[in-house]
Amino acid sequence: MMRLLNYLTFASIFCSAGALESNVVSNLSDLPFDENDHLNAHILAFPASGPCGALMKAQIEATFLYGHVPVAVEGDAAEKLFGSNIPIKPSAVTDCPAVCLDRGVDSSLVAYPLPEKYYNPENETHQSLEQFVASKSCGRVEFGFINYSGKDLALYWVNGDAETYMYPFLQKERNTRFVTTFIGHTFRAKDPETGEVLLEHTVDFNGVMGVSNHINYHRKRDIREEVKRTMAGEWTKHLQVKRTFSALGFDKGHLPNDVFGSMRAFYYNNRAPPNRLMEEWDSKGLYVNFWETDCNFIQIPWELKFIWQERLKDVVQEWVGETEIEQTDLYGMRQYETGARLLTHVDRITTHAVSLIVNVAQGNLTEPWTVEVYDHANRLHEVVMEPGTIVYYESAKALHGRNSPLAGGFYANLFTHYRPIGDPNWYMKDNPEGTPAPLLDVGKCELVGKPNEYSQGAVKCENDAIGPHLSPKMITATSGDDLYDLWLSVGPSFEDDENAVASDEL
Ligand SMILES: *[C@@H]1O[C@H](CO)[C@@H](O)[C@H](O)[C@H]1NC(C)=O
Ligand SMILES: *[C@@H]1O[C@H](CO)[C@@H](O)[C@H](O)[C@H]1NC(C)=O
Ligand SMILES: *[C@@H]1O[C@H](CO)[C@@H](O)[C@H](O)[C@H]1NC(C)=O
Ligand SMILES: *[C@@H]1O[C@H](CO)[C@@H](O)[C@H](O)[C@H]1NC(C)=O
Repeated sequence: MMRLLNYLTFASIFCSAGALESNVVSNLSDLPFDENDHLNAHILAFPASGPCGALMKAQIEATFLYGHVPVAVEGDAAEKLFGSNIPIKPSAVTDCPAVCLDRGVDSSLVAYPLPEKYYNPENETHQSLEQFVASKSCGRVEFGFINYSGKDLALYWVNGDAETYMYPFLQKERNTRFVTTFIGHTFRAKDPETGEVLLEHTVDFNGVMGVSNHINYHRKRDIREEVKRTMAGEWTKHLQVKRTFSALGFDKGHLPNDVFGSMRAFYYNNRAPPNRLMEEWDSKGLYVNFWETDCNFIQIPWELKFIWQERLKDVVQEWVGETEIEQTDLYGMRQYETGARLLTHVDRITTHAVSLIVNVAQGNLTEPWTVEVYDHANRLHEVVMEPGTIVYYESAKALHGRNSPLAGGFYANLFTHYRPIGDPNWYMKDNPEGTPAPLLDVGKCELVGKPNEYSQGAVKCENDAIGPHLSPKMITATSGDDLYDLWLSVGPSFEDDENAVASDEL
């Protein structure tokens, strides 16, 4: 009974009666999208016609779909999802293709599912269609819970009238408890003493949820001295890295559509509280101005992180060339809000050799919020990013930040990091043969564009290998003080305010 109810609830989003008879689509834009143009339901797509159509249809009718709406595709839609992979004479249903499409994906990206989302009988977790639908490709998801409630809480799995105790909720992000579960399963967070229910959630996608939220108190803070010291430290750190990988130390690119689609769906599904929570900044320094503006965090479950990081490793590997790299860390998603600033810094030296900044979403900006990157000659570049833009960067060597306060709106990023395989001492090594030489001398440079024109060649140099991103501010840094001066010049002014507390009081 529960299964049937579940199925009907989801199916009714698209087409309630006789779903299999009527859900035939020849144009992917006829799938069910919401008012923001994101897919409104999980879809199990399969070929509409021919022997594969008949075999799949019979199999799907006999299979529990974990909330997926079955849609038969033909014509252009079949071509986009399956190309030439629909056999004319299949000997069994296992010869036919199917794919699960994530609820929440943008209509422009719905035609590009990750390779993992396709039915592949050679994969031992999809030997039958039933197993496929119950696998990570479709119905199996990972969901995390965090306790910020101030109460002792326990998590229960709810099955009809029965409650199964799972575990106590621990405090804070590092103690997030993940469950591997299925779409349609319900969990409840309760105070075991009083029975008070603080959260009840029926899982419908990969995600994380908080009971209540972390708080970063807003207050005035005069951090000038602390920033000056910090900038001196970052300057020294960046000089410790000898090894380089590219001519400039950074480059701009674009995410492959499949991983972008997966990230967009995840972001869209988890973009509001209680899935979007405050980033914990308690003892992590002052790199983000969390005392002036909210800094949000959307935590990513492990399995999804792993898929994205593996996929992006190939992208970064191509940028790096010969030296084989390994993944070390993926952080995010961090959502900056109006007024946000990120101090110039370099990343952890042993693990963060080559990295990506990924912009997943942004909205309502009144000016582009550029990422500032210093090249191997310490010239300042400012790169404009759109959703789906990636910036490759040599993260322990190329100083980077976002000193100008975010003007209007929000900006959601993730960061993923790699280093030469098994080599925490990579930064002391000489460049292997074939590494592009760092671009140091580019001759005379002059501002030919407007002072607020970014990433469009506003600065021209005699050697145009310098690219289009040089900052119209025309800054070449020679010390931590220069980094400090940029921070001071683009931020709000400090009137000498008696109410401002020195940073060491916090
Ligand atoms: C699919 O529908 C959209 C919107 O109606 C239309 O713009 C597009 O041309 C159609 N695609 C094909 C291949 O017919
Ligand atoms: C098998 O399928 C699962 C998802 O169902 C996927 O995560 C995994 O990567 C696949 N394994 C291989 C070897 O393709
Ligand atoms: C949940 O968090 C609160 C603080 O927010 C803490 O007092 C409580 O002990 C936590 N519960 C568990 C089981 O750790
Ligand atoms: C963007 O701005 C519009 C108009 O001011 C507003 O209605 C909308 O809520 C804003 N969206 C976000 C995500 O802030």
